[in-house]
Amino acid sequence: MPVYSEKVMDHFMNPRNVGEIENPDGVGEVGNPICGDMMTFYIKVKDNRLDEVKFKTFGCGAAIAVSSMVSEMAMGKTLDEAMKITPRLVAEELEGLPKQKLHCSNLGAQALNKAIQDYLSQKKAQGGKA
Ligand code: FES
Repeated sequence: MPVYSEKVMDHFMNPRNVGEIENPDGVGEVGNPICGDMMTFYIKVKDNRLDEVKFKTFGCGAAIAVSSMVSEMAMGKTLDEAMKITPRLVAEELEGLPKQKLHCSNLGAQALNKAIQDYLSQKKAQGGKA
């Protein structure tokens, strides 16, 4: 069994921001076909900043810890800043992930990114008035 850092264990045992946002401004869903894990991020945007970030993850412990960490890292950031959250940064914040679990951090960063893209494309479709 892989060895996890205390931070990973903490976010796995007490994940922050679990759930769904009603009427979200953006939703991003990603899945990994190999392990079958799924992650959905919901965001609310205010003044170009992430005002609320929630997630639902059906996956391994590392995926849950990653989602929780991504939600904390993203909260309050501008959209540009949040899009710069890379899997490597997430893994670093978690004080490392076992090698075979690094793909879990990709999912977290991707799901958040997708939610932001979803928000931006809706805004564009509405002529920038979102
Ligand atoms: Fe696939 Fe963790 S094992 S996301």
